[in-house]
Amino acid sequence: MLTLLTSMYLVVRAVSSRAEPIRVVVTGAAGQIAYSLLYSIAKGDVFGKDQPIILMLLDIPPMLPVLEGVVMELQDCALPLLRDVIPTDKVDVGFKDVDAAILVGSMPRKEGMERKDLLKANVAIFKTQGAALDQHAKKTVRVLVVGNPANTNCLIASKSAPSIPKENFSCLTRLDHNRASSQVAMRCSVSSDNVKNVIIWGNHSSTQYPDVHHAKVNVNGSEMSAYDAVKNEAWLRGDFISTVQQRGAAVIKARKLSSAMSAAKAICDHMRDIWFGTKEGEFISMGVYAKGNSYGIPEDLIYSFPVQIKNKTWKMVDGLSINDFSRAKMDATAAELVEERDTALELLSQ
Ligand SMILES: NC(=O)c1ccc[n+]([C@@H]2O[C@H](COP(=O)([O-])OP(=O)(O)OC[C@H]3O[C@@H](n4cnc5c(N)ncnc54)[C@H](O)[C@@H]3O)[C@@H](O)[C@H]2O)c1
Repeated sequence: MLTLLTSMYLVVRAVSSRAEPIRVVVTGAAGQIAYSLLYSIAKGDVFGKDQPIILMLLDIPPMLPVLEGVVMELQDCALPLLRDVIPTDKVDVGFKDVDAAILVGSMPRKEGMERKDLLKANVAIFKTQGAALDQHAKKTVRVLVVGNPANTNCLIASKSAPSIPKENFSCLTRLDHNRASSQVAMRCSVSSDNVKNVIIWGNHSSTQYPDVHHAKVNVNGSEMSAYDAVKNEAWLRGDFISTVQQRGAAVIKARKLSSAMSAAKAICDHMRDIWFGTKEGEFISMGVYAKGNSYGIPEDLIYSFPVQIKNKTWKMVDGLSINDFSRAKMDATAAELVEERDTALELLSQ
């Protein structure tokens, strides 16, 4: 029996080590999030420990010399799964046959820049990248948009890639989700893996709604609602929400740079869940196409919902009860997204 199991194991190992490499593009690859992210991807934390990878690194022309340094460092990591690294400033090269696209690069807000100008620059970037995905990527590509404004950039990219299913596009609200889980865990003096099913609704902005009405906390082996575990409704309805909403700004204030390590970790969590699925009985938050949602959210938006994932396909968690407190906050963040979308679509049509 043991010999049979050993030979089966060896066969599985031999087959998996011969797996075809997948192609993964990271845009904004010379930036600070990418610097924290690329190592985790290249060593197998996201797509599996037996999955060889070809990394495509896309950035803008002035950043190519920096990108060369990133390539050198990746080579110097001597990672067995990393089969090739292709730095480029050309979308047709960067998106060629990709299986996964992590769109981190975007136009940052500069001093004195109007919101509309920022949106205009990003609409142009995500229109180009969506069209390039449409033309060059595999139709099964999974696209994760991180660059801000992440929800609207994701919507523009998906609208610019009509041959790729809308369900293949998502935007990152996992960082907000992780922040919410961690705040509750710290409050209850448990580790973060004892908290599940927090929800981030809406926009990855300060109007997002971190909701713990359906969250569970495991305290000393017994599972209870977050409200019972925290025992402080005023905190859950007040400081908890504003802390999560304002966390990005607080990190910038302290670090003089925006979140990078935690953003990279959240990107890995998000993509790994797409690739391998979510745990039984658990849901996570991600910005997805709102069509067909049961929560009365306008349909033509990328809005963060609770989802479960199986076979690389997400499904919204339906039927959660929504009280008046939650309803108002879910609608407020939707209203912000509708306004952002309308401006972006107007710019897209110009
Ligand atoms: N959704 C989230 O939870 C979340 C969290 C943190 C940061 N962000 C956003 O992620 C983005 C990147 O953050 P960062 O800290 O890495 O910024 P960064 O400025 O360090 O790096 C951004 C990189 O993107 C590149 N870039 C700009 N335009 C590009 C284009 N058209 N194609 C390819 N590359 C391009 C830049 O040259 C730069 O190298 C920002 O928009 C930030 O606001 C989102």
